[in-house]
Amino acid sequence: MILAGSPSMLDPHGPEAHRLAGVWWLMFGIAVAVYVIVAGFIVVGLVRGRRTEGGRPSRISEGAFIWVGGIIVPSAILLLLAVVTVQATTHLRRPAHDPLQIEVTGKQWWWEVRYPTLGFSTANEIHVPAGRQIELGLDASDVVHSFWVPQLAGKVDTIPGQHNVLRFRADKPGVYRGQCAEYCGVQHAHMAMIVIADAPATFERWAVRRQHPPSPPDGDAQSRGELVFMSHPCAGCHTIAGTQADGKRGPDLTDIGSRRWLGAIAVPNTANFLEAWITAPGTIKPGVLMPPTQLAPDDLRALVAYLESLK
Ligand code: CUA
Repeated sequence: MILAGSPSMLDPHGPEAHRLAGVWWLMFGIAVAVYVIVAGFIVVGLVRGRRTEGGRPSRISEGAFIWVGGIIVPSAILLLLAVVTVQATTHLRRPAHDPLQIEVTGKQWWWEVRYPTLGFSTANEIHVPAGRQIELGLDASDVVHSFWVPQLAGKVDTIPGQHNVLRFRADKPGVYRGQCAEYCGVQHAHMAMIVIADAPATFERWAVRRQHPPSPPDGDAQSRGELVFMSHPCAGCHTIAGTQADGKRGPDLTDIGSRRWLGAIAVPNTANFLEAWITAPGTIKPGVLMPPTQLAPDDLRALVAYLESLK
């Protein structure tokens, strides 16, 4: 599903698009120039024809031509490229001064997202402050997955038993869609995530909000919903901060009401989809590890009201 119209889409009239167009034309111009020069040499060679015995001797000796054109010049170019490459990669690998640590664990088929320095967890939707370096720790708890948000960074595998690190920075606020890039089972294609880059002040407000448990249930429906949640298997698999629900198998639901999507970006987070997800998650994501839960209609509505209130 494409986030149509999201700020992550490149504005075709913006300065970034102009800059990219400039780079594109420059590279195209260089390629054309190289083509014309090489083609020119070929034409000259064809016109002059093969040098025959007793013909006009070349002004450059063959030995010098091979030494200069075949060894010295290529060596100098390769040496220059090697120095520049080593410099650039050293610069890229250098840890930033004050990166934000985020730990992401790939699971069948969703992403656990922890903010160890801020002290809370979420799932599938990764808020980051725009402009700040992010140090993303990557792990997996079952099979190999691969974390890939094409607009922000290259893909890095999440491997059970091995801790990988991915550093990136979202320069501009926006929503960047990502996707598991390593086949990991039946729902691999629907193991997506979004990175939400907020303006620093917005991120700060979000983080402070997330450091406190959600407000207690407001009204009868939400209270009943909380009771339904705690008295059914839900609480054994999911965590809601500030309650006795501390299950670790499924995603942390402390902020489920403020998330945009359900099921690792499978369907939008609406009351109808949430009802469908609770009662028959397999109809939305066949093979999903969450079992269906049968509830009386009133209980289901109350549960959804409670979950949507968790922000
Ligand atoms: Cu996880 Cu593919």
